[in-house]
Order: sequence, then C-alpha cells, then structure tokens
Amino acid sequence: MSLQAITQRKRGFICVNAHPEGCRRNIERQVERIRQAVGAGFKPAPTTMKNVLVIGASTGYGLASRIAAAWAFGAKTLGVFFERAPKGGSTGTAGYYNTVAFHEQAKKDELFAASLNGDAFSDEIKRQAADLIRQSIGSVDLVIYSLASPRRVHPRTGRTHNAALKPIGQPFSSKTIDLNTEKVVTITLEPASEAEIADTVAVMGGADWRMWMEMLAQENLLAKGAGTVAYSYIGPEVTWPVYRDGTIGQAKLDLEKTARDLAATLGPKLGLKAYVSVNKAVVTQASAAIPVVPLYLSVLPRVLKNNEEPIDQMRRLFCDFLAQGDRNLLDETWRVRLDSAELQPEVQAGIARIWPNVTTENLYQLTDFAGFKRAFDNLFGFNVEGVDYSRPCETDLAW
Ligand SMILES: NC(=O)c1ccc[n+]([C@@H]2O[C@H](COP(=O)([O-])OP(=O)(O)OC[C@H]3O[C@@H](n4cnc5c(N)ncnc54)[C@H](O)[C@@H]3O)[C@@H](O)[C@H]2O)c1
Repeated sequence: MSLQAITQRKRGFICVNAHPEGCRRNIERQVERIRQAVGAGFKPAPTTMKNVLVIGASTGYGLASRIAAAWAFGAKTLGVFFERAPKGGSTGTAGYYNTVAFHEQAKKDELFAASLNGDAFSDEIKRQAADLIRQSIGSVDLVIYSLASPRRVHPRTGRTHNAALKPIGQPFSSKTIDLNTEKVVTITLEPASEAEIADTVAVMGGADWRMWMEMLAQENLLAKGAGTVAYSYIGPEVTWPVYRDGTIGQAKLDLEKTARDLAATLGPKLGLKAYVSVNKAVVTQASAAIPVVPLYLSVLPRVLKNNEEPIDQMRRLFCDFLAQGDRNLLDETWRVRLDSAELQPEVQAGIARIWPNVTTENLYQLTDFAGFKRAFDNLFGFNVEGVDYSRPCETDLAW
C-alpha cells in the first residue's frame, strides 16, 4: 500500500511521474467514446477480430487500438509494452497505470485481457507472448504494431541502435517551440550520417515487425486470414525535412516495404493481410519529442475543425476499415489514410498562413499552445478534468 497525494514532477518539459486516477479517467473516457460510437450499452459488432495482439499497447495509438478492439468488437486482447512499475514510493509510468485501468474496465465488462511488460524487441518477450497466446487464446487474428522507441537492442547481434531524428543531405532550420523556456526559436538540425540513418531504420523500420510476424507464423499462432497493421505518419510540408524526408521517413518507408513483403511471403500460405495505416498527428510522448512537431500540433487545432484524438482515429480504422473493409480509406499504394482531413489543402494553407507570424509574444494567441500543454499533461494523468489532485491516491497498483 502506498497512499499519497501526487503532485506533478517535471524535468524540463517532461513529466517524470504519473497520476493513477488521472490515467484511469483517461481510459474511462476513451472506452465511453467507443461505446457511444458503437451504440448504446455494450454491443460488440460482429467481426472476425476475436483475438488481438497489440505491440506498444500502453499509450498513444497502441492503447487506443486496444480499447477500440476490446469495446467495439469484444475482442480478447494481449498487450505488450515497456513501462516502469511503481517502486519504493515512486509512481509507475502513465502507460503502467493506463494498463491497470484497462484491465479494471475489461474485467468489469468480462473482456479477456493479458499484458506483458518488457522489451518487445527481445526474443524473450516474443517467446513469452507466444506461450501466452498458445495457452490463453490459441491464435491471433489481428496484430497491431505500434512501437515508438528511441532505441533497440538487436536480439541477435546485441548491438544497441539509437534512433536520430534528423534531416538527410542538408541541414534544416525551422521555427520551433523550446518547450523548457516556452520561447519560439529557430533550430538548425545537422544532417544525419549514413550510420544514423541505418540506426533509425533499425529501430523504427519494419525489421522487428517482421520478426514478430514470422515468429507467430512459425509457431502456428496466426489464424487463417489474419491481418496486421503498423502505423506511420506523413504530415505537412513544414515538417517534411525532419519527418518524411528525414531519418524517420526512411524508417517509415521500410515499414511500408515490410508490409508488402509480409503480404507476399505470408499472404499465399496463411491469407495474411498486412497494412500500414497513416494516422494524423496527435499529442503523444513520442510525437512531442520530434523537433518542430509541438509547434505544428499547437497550430493544427486552430485550423482543423474536427481534430480527432487517437481513439477517434482507431475507431475509424477498426470499425470502418478492418471490420467493414471501406476501400475509400486506401490510397493508391494500399496505405490506410486516416490523415486526409489534416492534409486537406485548406488546412495546410491555414497552417502556412499562421506559421510565419508566430512569435514568443503571441504564442498563446495565435496557436493553441495551452491546449498542447494540457494534452501533454493529460498523457501522464495530470490536469485531467474531474480529478481532485489534493486527495491521496493509491500508487502501488497492479493488474
Ligand atoms: N503521435 C503521432 O502523432 C503519430 C502519428 C502517426 C503515426 N504515429 C505512429 O504510431 C506509432 C505509435 O506512436 P505513439 O505516438 O502512439 O507513441 P507512444 O509513445 O504513445 O507509444 C509507444 C508505445 O511503445 C511502447 N514501447 C516503446 N519501446 C518499447 C519496447 N522496447 N518494448 C515494448 N514496448 C515498447 C510503449 O510502452 C508504448 O506502449 C509509431 O509508429 C508512430 O510513428 C504516431
């Protein structure tokens, strides 16, 4: 037992603790959003998606995927993630408490949930996941790959690959928000070396997704006609030098190639369908770490009317695309496009109009930086509506 009133602790902009009650509210709100979307009460839609493995299931898009699978379809979910448990008076991470709350809600609604906390890049966690699937649900019919990590220890070579978020070929200068000082400044990012490009592809490209899928196929744990989806981002021109045309963009191209390879190798034998879904920009721990993106995420709500959250995007992916096969969501290269509203020319023109005028002095007027900060605090369970932060709260929780 460790009952304590928890105040937010920050190192610079990053929050180093988390609030279990705030995280629980966040989960309840997302579950409610899906419930409302699928109809009054809890009526899972009929689907073949009964058993879903989500890799990167504790925060952001992976968590929203897990919630959508469970509450739209009544799916049994197995979540894999890497989170810190509470220890010696220190709180666990937000992803840890999100998972506690996910299990709590799932139990209430009699939904099967199992979770594995450990390094998804390792052979050991893959083996544990295989054992768990075999023993508990038999096989999986959908695998969501939603990892965002700054590094990967390669399971065969033991080498640590560090991702670098950099432009390629030439330096890139852009306006950005210095999140520690709240000043609008110009940053210059030096171009990545060949080794940094290769390392970023090794971390955020398709190699580990391929390992997961090949392992599941080898172990006979993929149901016939199973699907798999990994997530990508394209974004607006202002971020292209550091995103689409940068090191991370190369990793995302590798992810797309992996989807084609998986469909070609496992498709004929198992009927596997592999997709990359291009999602819209949202505030997550991963996206806030990308240079220029926090400023973009602050301007975006000013011009995008229906600014969907991860749970809204995942409802469309699961209900419209995966369950009903809405082909209108596919582009010419077979990618699922959930980002079309964000990329509409009038939205991007609106961004381009605001962008050059933003200064430190008018940051809060011209952009929704206040909303960005609130959304970022919310990720850690702080600044969440309806939570009384003066009340002591149990931090020593487990699922
Ligand atoms: N956030 C965005 O704006 C955005 C937009 C489009 C696509 N995407 C993509 O969505 C995917 C998920 O990103 P996110 O923004 O939801 O990130 P996130 O930081 O919210 O979530 C990352 C998840 O990966 C898990 N993880 C990290 N390292 C791990 C490891 N070694 N082993 C096991 N689990 C590990 C974390 O525990 C967490 O569950 C990424 O591929 C990202 O590029 C994000």
